[in-house]
Amino acid sequence: MVLKDVFIGLSQNQFLNNTAKKYGLKLGAQSVVAGTNLTEAIKSIKELNAKGISCTVDNLGEFVFEKSEATEAKNQILEVIEAIHEHQADAHISLKPSQLGLDIDYSFCLENLREIAARAYQYGIFINIDMEDYNRLQPSFDMLDELSKEYDNLGTVIQAYFFRADDDIEKYKNYRLRIVKGAYKEPEDVAFQTKEEIDKHYIQLIEWHLLNGKFTSIATHDHRVINHVKQFVKEHQISNDKFEFQMLYGFRKEMQLDLASEGYNFCTYVPFGHDWYGYFMRRLAERPQNLNLVAKQVFTK
Ligand code: FDA
Repeated sequence: MVLKDVFIGLSQNQFLNNTAKKYGLKLGAQSVVAGTNLTEAIKSIKELNAKGISCTVDNLGEFVFEKSEATEAKNQILEVIEAIHEHQADAHISLKPSQLGLDIDYSFCLENLREIAARAYQYGIFINIDMEDYNRLQPSFDMLDELSKEYDNLGTVIQAYFFRADDDIEKYKNYRLRIVKGAYKEPEDVAFQTKEEIDKHYIQLIEWHLLNGKFTSIATHDHRVINHVKQFVKEHQISNDKFEFQMLYGFRKEMQLDLASEGYNFCTYVPFGHDWYGYFMRRLAERPQNLNLVAKQVFTK
């Protein structure tokens, strides 16, 4: 738990984040980040597509405190949408509201997201609003509510560690939802703290949305959850077109291929860009064994 807190703390260090941007992918991050530019990302996406795997693309970006940075992030995401369309890639977009200026000004962020939603809508490309920490949760749902009046290509994430996830999943049952355990450190008045509680709630939410909701993206590397879902959909005769499994790029690669070849819809989350540091530190927080990646990189020079 202590190590987890250390890495979450490091992920929030703006100085280290800015420094890391200057040096390209380091510390083993290249195993879990699909390059620093769009050309590299599209190449990875096409390779995954060729193996029967669809992708959700995250143009990494955090610590956005200037409007100019948020505008740049928006323009980069528009370029990703154009590239997906041009290459006819089997891919959609994942984005973080903070990247589009949520911490600067809600209305400004909403307008950025509106422009992205409109462009993606033209091409029939889905946009997933990734969920960040608790302070950004409600404004992110508010933006989804607002833009859903105009566009139907939007969905979001339900984080199982939050107590309020039961209400949120019910409210958003007609949306395509990605269900995750939750990656940030949250206080005990709003979120479950133990792994047992989070895992239990996670399964409950997945089952609920599979039975009552629209499309379910089960985003986890936990084989126990995956095996449980396989059994559950069989028992309840839920067809494969109602759900997919999702994992992060570079994690459990064999299992990703196996699930796709077993006939399940599979979607890999493909992050790319210079702003890899916070993303990489959160992955180390989730699974300190990922430090092996760092160790290998440091000791195999
Ligand atoms: P967890 O870390 O709980 O591990 C459970 C068990 O699975 C481990 O004990 C081990 O046995 C096995 N395992 C896990 N990883 C393994 C590996 N690499 N190799 C071998 N065994 C492994 N969070 C968030 O807050 N907002 C978001 O928008 C998203 N989006 C998102 C998208 C996608 C596609 C994924 C996969 C995850 C997210 N997350 C997220 C992160 C999520 O909330 C969570 O922090 C991580 O997925 C870690 O939890 P897991 O369920 O993967 O397993």
